[in-house]
Amino acid sequence: GEDADLARVAELVRDVPDHPSPGILFRDITPVLADAAAFTVVTTELASLVGDADLVAGVEARGFLLAAAVAVVAGTGVVPVRKAGKLPRVAASRTYELEYGSATLELPADTIAPGARVFLVDDVLATGGTAAAAVDLLTDVGATVVGFGTLLEITALDGRERLGDTRVDALLRV
Ligand code: PRP
Repeated sequence: GEDADLARVAELVRDVPDHPSPGILFRDITPVLADAAAFTVVTTELASLVGDADLVAGVEARGFLLAAAVAVVAGTGVVPVRKAGKLPRVAASRTYELEYGSATLELPADTIAPGARVFLVDDVLATGGTAAAAVDLLTDVGATVVGFGTLLEITALDGRERLGDTRVDALLRV
């Protein structure tokens, strides 16, 4: 069943102390992606949340891997939400604070039509700064964010609070 599948996914997440800086417990989800059965479970579960969205957006870098797979299953296109300085043409930009440091996210031009319905995907919800910035960016270009789906939510950091009215679904919560 679904619970047993997700329990197996949870066993593949590795905790890495003091990465990328002292005091941060990094949740490494790459073994989940590398496991065929687990990757299928995660992709299928996230795709079931896409609903009537026109597009799936994924946050650099691990969010790209999930978003592209989810988009194929859901039958939508995919849009990369990129770290600053990578895109040749930028539609919108937002700077935000991370659990460790600050970062800027950008959306590519000519990918999201005004009024588009977008489902946002990332691998981990920690402080919520990244997801909130991505929601703000998508809103800046006239999209409606129908929800945010993540593989893993670190509940103690209350990232969900940063997302206001945006619907948040996490497959795993630690
Ligand atoms: C991680 C993760 C999320 C973000 C969550 O990305 O993939 O995007 O942090 O943290 P937050 O909720 O506190 O904002 P990271 O910055 O490690 O980037 P990467 O995927 O490019 O390695």
